[in-house]
Amino acid sequence: MKSFYITTAIDYVNGSPHLGHAYEKVLTDVIARIRRMMGDRVHFLTGVDEHGQKVQQSARQRGVSPQQFSDEISAEFRALLPKLNISNDDFIRTTDERHKRVVRGLLQQLHDKGEIYKAEYQGFYSTRQEQFLQDKDRNPDGTWPEIYGEVTEITESNYFFKLKNYQDWLVRFLTENENFVFPKFRQKQVLEFLKEPLNDLCISRPKERLEWGIPLPFDEDFVTYVWFDALTNYYSAVVDRPGVWPADYHVIGKDILVPPHAVYWMIMLQACGLPLPKGIIAHGWWSINGAKMSKSTGNFVEPVGFVDQYGVDPLRYFVMREMSVGQDSDFSFSQFLARYNAELANNLGNLVNRTLNMTNRFAGGLIPAADEAGVPEKELQDLWKQVQAEVPQLWDGFQFNVALERTMAFVTATNAYIEKLAPWKLGKSAEPADQARLRTALATMAEALRLAAHLLEPVIPASATRIHAVLGYQPTDNWADKTQWSGRLQGNRVAESLVLFPRLQPPDSAAKS
Ligand code: MSP
Repeated sequence: MKSFYITTAIDYVNGSPHLGHAYEKVLTDVIARIRRMMGDRVHFLTGVDEHGQKVQQSARQRGVSPQQFSDEISAEFRALLPKLNISNDDFIRTTDERHKRVVRGLLQQLHDKGEIYKAEYQGFYSTRQEQFLQDKDRNPDGTWPEIYGEVTEITESNYFFKLKNYQDWLVRFLTENENFVFPKFRQKQVLEFLKEPLNDLCISRPKERLEWGIPLPFDEDFVTYVWFDALTNYYSAVVDRPGVWPADYHVIGKDILVPPHAVYWMIMLQACGLPLPKGIIAHGWWSINGAKMSKSTGNFVEPVGFVDQYGVDPLRYFVMREMSVGQDSDFSFSQFLARYNAELANNLGNLVNRTLNMTNRFAGGLIPAADEAGVPEKELQDLWKQVQAEVPQLWDGFQFNVALERTMAFVTATNAYIEKLAPWKLGKSAEPADQARLRTALATMAEALRLAAHLLEPVIPASATRIHAVLGYQPTDNWADKTQWSGRLQGNRVAESLVLFPRLQPPDSAAKS
């Protein structure tokens, strides 16, 4: 069986991880968990991009060697993964021997095939972006946009990869595979970019300018351009694992779609005669309180600290609920607080509390068998059927925010059902009919909670597992079976109580009280 292979971008280790890095891992993890749940054999790769000018410079500023510097920062990125409950199967560093070997192998292969040539190059070079610029990149007044940092004119010999020869092929490929990039408007941007003639890609840097890289196998005076090195990680990590390549999805941010992933990587693979990935998911960017996230201004949510304070699932839930994949979003603490309290504490948390309290109070802690379903139960079961059918379709279309909204609407409906049945009133009555309604109500709320937790599991896996555990339930069946409305919880002993999401006070009201 071919694995479902999914990757994140590999992060530069020139600074600590921030919310943008955390989001990409969570998004990819949610997709990986969904596919595993559906029975796929998943291979999930993430890692770090350690070579290049940025890291060399940051290391110099700190007065340590690039190796020592990237060892330290890579450890931080790696430590973020368990913090965020990321279920990756592998973690690659571009300084790994297994990676360097494959990069050099591909370069040699392309060189032997005549796809790489040496030429003199004169141009304007941006150190910050690690690329040569063209006149079309200038501002109208002739200056260089700020994103390029310091730009200097240099002449040097370098090696070039014959990108140009593949332009027509790539345009054809993207025209024939119109859903290759998600969202679709990003695919259009790639085609737009390809309307201009491509230049061959400079894939080397002279060692005197940059030491921190993989030496070219055919000329040790040069190191490999960091993008050629980095992109290869997706392949080098699985070269020894049969049945994994090609990737099903590369999950990346919108900034690195064009040209690195959609142009360079596609052409590199095609030129090497390797199968192409099946798709690319390009997500949007987070701002924080309306401002661009940047390491220099310190305006970023520090994911580890945030998780320590508010828990991993609230962070995972918020980013998946708030962002529509492909669009940009803003992270504001007040919005986090509002969603946390309304959706996690007052809606889901409340359903958990009520189910446990009432089962303990009125049924000695054992989930009763439901009596015959009446109109309110049938309505809730019908709603479940809709949600159960709709959510996997939304997942397939990467509409995780809408899927969460639908799932939470089902939780809201379950809470409304409880209000309507008012088990606390039924519990006071000795009438057999009322007792039967009470048993049905208790069984219904427990079952609804069990089912909702299954749909929430990819996003808040730890909480879903705890919910199932307090219902005395351990999922074993396949997805289709376990998401059927059933009486399988009957007779289970529930836990005393569980506070999953304690209500949070807004910071200023806490100060007042
Ligand atoms: N090293 C390259 C990627 C090489 S992939 C072969 C790189 N690294 S990065 O650290 O700058 O970015 C890593 C990922 O984080 C990218 O996909 C990028 O889009 C994403 N994000 C960085 N800032 C972000 C936000 N503010 N919001 C969301 N994602 C962001 O690029």
